[in-house]
Amino acid sequence: MTTIGILGAGRVGTAVARQAMKAGYDVKIATAKPAEEIRMIVDIVTPGAQAVEASEAASQELVILAVPLHKYRTVDPELLAGRTVIDVMNYWAPVDGVIADFEQADLGSSEVIQQYLAESHVVKSLNHIGYHELEEDDQPSGAQGRRALALAGDDARSKAVVAEFIDRLGYDAIDAGPLAAGRAYQPGTDIFNGSHSAEQLSALLEAALQPSHV
Ligand SMILES: NC(=O)c1ccc[n+]([C@@H]2O[C@H](COP(=O)([O-])OP(=O)(O)OC[C@H]3O[C@@H](n4cnc5c(N)ncnc54)[C@H](OP(=O)(O)O)[C@@H]3O)[C@@H](O)[C@H]2O)c1
Repeated sequence: MTTIGILGAGRVGTAVARQAMKAGYDVKIATAKPAEEIRMIVDIVTPGAQAVEASEAASQELVILAVPLHKYRTVDPELLAGRTVIDVMNYWAPVDGVIADFEQADLGSSEVIQQYLAESHVVKSLNHIGYHELEEDDQPSGAQGRRALALAGDDARSKAVVAEFIDRLGYDAIDAGPLAAGRAYQPGTDIFNGSHSAEQLSALLEAALQPSHV
């Protein structure tokens, strides 16, 4: 895969776009607006990325979903059917407002997104690194103390695609398990609040995913 799609051209979407291009990917990026309306800003903020309609960004095998969580229902699930979707979104009530869908204690935000995108393979990742850090903390594979990022999802093939993507972005990819395991690195958790090597992240995930915690 050489081309990725990104839905959302805000802080996270544009940071992922630049980092992905640095890693050699071609990037198609979209917002809810017509491509023509964002072309100029995309050329300035993410030079080299192609501003497209949301339908074209969503037609790539790997799509990064980087819209504000409270707007998730403005994304058309049909466009993403069959795709691997990295859900970078976080539920943060002070910003998003209280959203009943995400107040269910027994369901992580990405599990709610998976229910909405029922025909897609949702993988939770890139949510626990600041958008500004994404372009600063990358290191080549094998570097001492390389920062690690978790991924969780229910489809093995999609997780392999995402793991390769994370590695190419400059981070160790740690498989946390099924999508429900993503609750271990939502806002408010130790993992969310820090920066960790693969060894540290694996230990934190193991502790957080003890049966009594999930
Ligand atoms: N800030 C961080 O460091 C960080 C890190 C990891 C994850 N996150 C999470 O990532 C998500 C995005 O955050 P952000 O700071 O990048 O948001 P942001 O700066 O507000 O950007 C959101 C982007 O989504 C676009 N958008 C809205 N609805 C859309 C739709 N239906 N289809 C396509 N694009 C759409 C917006 O454009 P239009 O409205 O013009 O269409 C805008 O370009 C949030 O859930 C946040 O919690 C944030």
